[in-house]
Amino acid sequence: MSQGHAGGKIILMGEHAVVYGYPAIALPFSAVQVQVTVEEKGDSLSLSCALYQGLVHEMPRVWESLKHAIRLSLYRLGAPTDPGLHIEIESTIPPERGMGSSAAVAVAIARALFAFYGKDLSDKELWEIVQSAEAIAHGNPSGVDAATTSGQKPIWFVKGSELEHLELCLDAYLVVADTGKMGQTLSAVEDVADLLCTQPDAEAELVALGTLTQQARLYLATNQADKLGQVMNQAHHHLQILGVSDEALDKLVEVAQEGGALGAKLTGGGRGGCMIALADTRKKADDLVMVLKEAGASQTWIQQIGE
Ligand code: PMV
Repeated sequence: MSQGHAGGKIILMGEHAVVYGYPAIALPFSAVQVQVTVEEKGDSLSLSCALYQGLVHEMPRVWESLKHAIRLSLYRLGAPTDPGLHIEIESTIPPERGMGSSAAVAVAIARALFAFYGKDLSDKELWEIVQSAEAIAHGNPSGVDAATTSGQKPIWFVKGSELEHLELCLDAYLVVADTGKMGQTLSAVEDVADLLCTQPDAEAELVALGTLTQQARLYLATNQADKLGQVMNQAHHHLQILGVSDEALDKLVEVAQEGGALGAKLTGGGRGGCMIALADTRKKADDLVMVLKEAGASQTWIQQIGE
């Protein structure tokens, strides 16, 4: 029996713009995790998770990216295509909420299968497997999810460039709240691409998001939580203009801003999924959790940023 693990991720700044080469800042989010267990069982490859139990080759099309992560791992391992193995996925990462669930599952699957066959999995090979699966889940993934869910450190991510790890010196707390609605990363990414074709002026929103992410990096390094909050608020505004927010996200962002957050914005692909709010003390973070729950958040988490 072998296991593989991965955690969720939160994009602090830069979602959507990152697809076009602008920077993003993302953090591993250890409050949610996925564990994959692989063991010998039966004559054919089978899988169980919260939403599916059965043979891998009979999985419905919606599971295509997960199937691809399994197949590509087996191919890279030189293993049989349909071995007598059972894969069990246990996850506390809510799916389709901008927390990198699909990438984290792919990371944990590759790790568990490589461990099962006793082979080392290089960072490069893990990245290639996860990115290939993510291309099915998200169409045109920047790679920020693959990079964050496979690592332990906050990252500065620019598509096509070497990854940079960030030391966060910020004395603050991040409150994460789930709207309870499935996010729509694929359609949001496609619609931003269409918008850029039909209205080239929309590029200005991406430029602004890129600049705000640069500023955020400075504020994270120099412990300026209030300034970081301001750039988060501005980023949410630009994401709204790009059309990737929705009523549920806007409501939680507004409630957080009025409830004492230093700043708030959606996180991840948007159109459902999660939002984040910045609080300067644990007490403020707890208060924000209360108001966000009253406003309809289905789940909330608190993560200390400079831990
Ligand atoms: O919704 P998530 O967690 O998959 O985040 C997507 C982030 C985007 O910038 C919208 C897309 C990407 O590939 O970077």
